[in-house]
Amino acid sequence: MIGIIGAGAMGEVFVAGFLRQGIGPDRLVIAEKREGRARELVERYGVRVVTPAEAAGECATILLLVKPQDVASVLGEIQPVLADGTVVISLAAGVRLATLESALPGVAVVRAMPNTPALVDLGITAISPGTSCTTEQAAYVEGLLSAVGPVVRVSEDLQDAVTATSGSGPAYVFLLIEAMVAAAVDLGLPADIARDLVRTTVVGAATMAAQPTADVGVLRQQVTSPGGTTAAALAVFEAEGFPRIVGAAMTAARDRGRELGA
Ligand SMILES: NC(=O)c1ccc[n+]([C@@H]2O[C@H](COP(=O)([O-])OP(=O)(O)OC[C@H]3O[C@@H](n4cnc5c(N)ncnc54)[C@H](OP(=O)(O)O)[C@@H]3O)[C@@H](O)[C@H]2O)c1
Repeated sequence: MIGIIGAGAMGEVFVAGFLRQGIGPDRLVIAEKREGRARELVERYGVRVVTPAEAAGECATILLLVKPQDVASVLGEIQPVLADGTVVISLAAGVRLATLESALPGVAVVRAMPNTPALVDLGITAISPGTSCTTEQAAYVEGLLSAVGPVVRVSEDLQDAVTATSGSGPAYVFLLIEAMVAAAVDLGLPADIARDLVRTTVVGAATMAAQPTADVGVLRQQVTSPGGTTAAALAVFEAEGFPRIVGAAMTAARDRGRELGA
């Protein structure tokens, strides 16, 4: 059995992803504080609702998908009832393996950072297995989480950087889309056409960038004729400090992750 504790936005992403991968609803339980939200997921996916302690008692795999500040209380609740051999995967931003391992001594824990494109099976998750996690358990977690996109392994000290890159990253792209649509409307385009142009451009460019042999620097140069329109736009991005702004934003996200984990 797989138990998902915290069935908010990201919890639902994994419920839906596991179901799409053929894990039946009879193999999934959720623990969710908000009753209305739990009912919604029962109706939508046919999963069973339990308490966190019940999930810990009956599941060989637990996914912790509560907010970082709620992790400590959930760990306290599940620790006394965890069955031997249970794997606990924490997907909470910033929560360190040391925190998980000191609350759950001897338990196989894995710290993981997913992202929301998992909703459409285009997520990416970075995992860092804890010291009590065997090679087999780590491989199992890797396989399980690959239900919603590729899984990479990183050393734990890089997890806050992963959060700042792929965890929060979708929001940066959405911000760019919003800004491009607003600018296109300012340039006179009707809003619906502006949205179509921007969304299709972003999907097209992202698909090109995702080709295994793609070099985004070369792709960028290919649309940038010297003295042309793209060159004029890129010169403004450069002059206004776009790379510096992106770097500062990602550093802020990384630092906030560290603070949340402290
Ligand atoms: N969203 C993302 O893009 C993203 C990306 C990567 C990682 N994450 C991580 O995923 C986790 C969940 O994020 P989210 O955006 O899905 O948050 P969310 O929508 O707030 O979902 C968390 C849910 O857990 C519930 N909850 C809190 N304490 C509980 C408890 N003791 N037992 C059962 N349920 C409990 C919350 O209820 P209340 O609201 O009543 O507290 C809420 O419904 C976070 O730790 C976050 O760092 C999220």
